[in-house]
Amino acid sequence: MRLIETRDYDEMSMIAAGIIGAQVLLQPDCVLGLATGTSPIGTYQRLVADCKKGLLDFSRVRTVNLDEYCGLPGDSKESYRYFMDHNLFDHVNIKKENTFLPNGCAPDMEAECRRYEELVSELGGADLQLLGIGRNGHIGFNEPADDFPAQVHQVELTESTIRANSRLFDRIEDVPTRAVTMGIGTIMKAGRILLIAGPEKKEIVQEAVYGKITPEVPASVLQLHKDVTIILAKS
Ligand code: GLP
Repeated sequence: MRLIETRDYDEMSMIAAGIIGAQVLLQPDCVLGLATGTSPIGTYQRLVADCKKGLLDFSRVRTVNLDEYCGLPGDSKESYRYFMDHNLFDHVNIKKENTFLPNGCAPDMEAECRRYEELVSELGGADLQLLGIGRNGHIGFNEPADDFPAQVHQVELTESTIRANSRLFDRIEDVPTRAVTMGIGTIMKAGRILLIAGPEKKEIVQEAVYGKITPEVPASVLQLHKDVTIILAKS
């Protein structure tokens, strides 16, 4: 595991965008695993800027996102589909049909979980998976639990995650209580993993990197992956 500490959010975003950009340059048809949240916004802005300057070409890139809320249609502004379109896909030359997220409104969620797991697997997994981290150590929406979920599955969000994510909703009551997420097994199949975190995540990042490997701290499983880079912003 490589742990890079940066001066601030901007420097974190610059380095993360550099790593993702290098992946796209070296493998133009790569599969990028993408994340939502506040942490990747600056990274996406830099990728957009580089694409607009003609430095990056997303025309052959495929993307798989980690997760989606249950019950929010893709055109609802709090959905992760909307977030991805708005922050990245609408501003780069990616083909929309090559961008994949779980469908949180599928009529049969069990079937949707199986479909998404198969899709990720048919794409050969993510070549590079970008991750954020929750304050309780969750990655994707894999909340602290008794075991590491292997595959795409539905989750009941914890109180702390609902509270943390409510800042992006008008009212806390509007935050969905369920989500669908890649499993820890799905995430661990990625060729390389890049986790980015702001200063408020310092303690949980340290616990994940140096602490016991336990599903109580889902991100601690990353200690078992062969190629993980963590960028932690100091301010
Ligand atoms: C959500 C997402 C996670 C993300 C986390 C942290 O719960 N499902 O994938 O890592 O938020 O988000 P932020 O970067 O806003 O702190």
